Amino acid sequence: MKLLVTGGAGFIGSAVVRLAVSRGYEVVNLDALTYAACLENVASVSDSPFYSFEQADIRNLPALEAIFAKHKPDAVMHLAAESHVDRSIDGPQAFIETNVMGTYNMLQAARQHWDAQGKPESFRFHHISTDEVFGSLGATGQFTEDTPYDPRSPYSASKASSDHLVRAWAETYGLPTVITNCSNNYGPYHFPEKLIPVVILSALAGKPIPIYGKGENVRDWLYVKDHADALLLVLEKGALGRSYNIGGENERSNLELVQTICSILDKLKPAAAPYANLIRFVTDRPGHDLRYAIDPSRIRDELGWRPSVTVEEGLEETVRWYLGNEAWWQPLLSRSGVGERLGRA
Ligand SMILES: NC(=O)c1ccc[n+]([C@@H]2O[C@H](COP(=O)([O-])OP(=O)(O)OC[C@H]3O[C@@H](n4cnc5c(N)ncnc54)[C@H](O)[C@@H]3O)[C@@H](O)[C@H]2O)c1
Repeated sequence: MKLLVTGGAGFIGSAVVRLAVSRGYEVVNLDALTYAACLENVASVSDSPFYSFEQADIRNLPALEAIFAKHKPDAVMHLAAESHVDRSIDGPQAFIETNVMGTYNMLQAARQHWDAQGKPESFRFHHISTDEVFGSLGATGQFTEDTPYDPRSPYSASKASSDHLVRAWAETYGLPTVITNCSNNYGPYHFPEKLIPVVILSALAGKPIPIYGKGENVRDWLYVKDHADALLLVLEKGALGRSYNIGGENERSNLELVQTICSILDKLKPAAAPYANLIRFVTDRPGHDLRYAIDPSRIRDELGWRPSVTVEEGLEETVRWYLGNEAWWQPLLSRSGVGERLGRA
């Protein structure tokens, strides 16, 4: 099966590309190589005869049409997006252009290709989205696939819009689609502007570890390798037109999460312990959603998927990976905006 994966030089997309190639899929990686991309993320598979790369921008419909015509994929996994909430507060336009208009272009190019192939039922357009489209929970409850959409940041609003477009293309044009909405991912190759790498790299540098507000915000942490595995399962076995929530069943407050990372570092690199002394509470992000939690019963009961690790196990693997891969993360620290406080509004 030939997959067209968009955003395959990013964090989650590259995990999908690596896993898919290792499982014998043919993969075309389509990526514009924005500030968030890193081709080193796919270096382990780039020599494989099953892998090819196309540098293209999903805002450019003719470029997408040419790539579909050239590669004739059997399925699309659409991950390319602007993904950092803080950046969406400072500059929402790029989020609308890539996440909304870019998804529209992908749907149009996919539909044209699907028509030209005789509308095969086996074709899939798999749209990868976020639980942030559902808004914010109080102390209790979980997001199900039927939770009404209630996005509250420019990022989540742009992702919600793209989900609606995908549903509309399925209903109106019959395009065979599936959607997944997942919780916060973490793991190797996570770009160093996101919370977990920020914590690890600040601690290693002996710098203050920033936590927004009082660290009370709760996220349901999902190990990126588990997510990639779930995505390929949904692609293969997911019911047409259905959406699946993917969560790690690992709810932690930001403060608990940071304390766990500090204690892993205390164990693995004890010279500068205790790292928790570096924790500093900083002004909160505007509109910071309090809590996300996923009810994963649909993907568990219908497709038999479960996360393979607890957040403590996944975090230890992640910290070890950052300790062993300074050559990957060090050059990224000088990219625009990394290490700066963004998204104050
Ligand atoms: N990271 C998470 O915790 C999380 C959680 C839920 C859902 N998601 C979704 O998963 C997907 C991947 O997230 P990620 O964390 O890997 O993001 P990322 O920012 O690490 O990677 C995004 C990739 O998309 C590419 N890209 C951006 N704009 C593009 C454009 N206009 N044309 C072509 N390529 C472009 C970038 O170059 C980059 O390689 C996104 O759709 C995101 O909304 C992420």
